[in-house]
Amino acid sequence: MKTLILYSSKYGFTKKCVDYLSSKIKGEIYIVNINDEKDINLGYYNNIIIGSPVYMGMINGDLKKYINENIDLLLTKKVYLFLSCGVLKNMDTYLKANFDEKFLNHIIISKCFGGELRLDKLSFIDKMIAKMASKAHDGSEKPSFLKQNVDEFIDEINE
Ligand SMILES: Cc1cc2nc3c(=O)[nH]c(=O)nc-3n(C[C@H](O)[C@H](O)[C@H](O)COP(=O)(O)O)c2cc1C
Repeated sequence: MKTLILYSSKYGFTKKCVDYLSSKIKGEIYIVNINDEKDINLGYYNNIIIGSPVYMGMINGDLKKYINENIDLLLTKKVYLFLSCGVLKNMDTYLKANFDEKFLNHIIISKCFGGELRLDKLSFIDKMIAKMASKAHDGSEKPSFLKQNVDEFIDEINE
């Protein structure tokens, strides 16, 4: 079984998730950061895992563009999707805002893996936005690695 993990990561949390997935998923694993590489032979893989962080409600632009440009081939593959995001309860909103209904219906499993917010790592602008966002929401959710969601995702792929 050949699995491609196609991802983007601005501050490293999504990359950490990718590293964890690649250590647990059976078979051959190939990892591509969409921001570095776009010439991908999708036809070669059986499974495609797509992983993106959410910034201001949006997934990574390169990833979104790549999905739209390769939708026909993706619809012939087993596709699994995860999002890194701080506000778990908004997962459905993020899915609907970023992906076509046809694509969403095709996905075998989609999960939020949680998120990480390290203010010391953020750019000035991102720090301002993150501070405003954390004031705006009720603060009941703290970003973290949602191991149970990640492990359920892995079990579905390894089945
Ligand atoms: C500027 C900024 C905007 C963000 N916007 C959202 C958002 O709209 N919704 C959300 O759930 N999380 C949001 N987050 C949290 C990120 O999705 C989370 O930190 C994620 O782990 C980032 O992944 P990365 O380290 O791979 O870039 C935001 C974080 C920052 C810094």
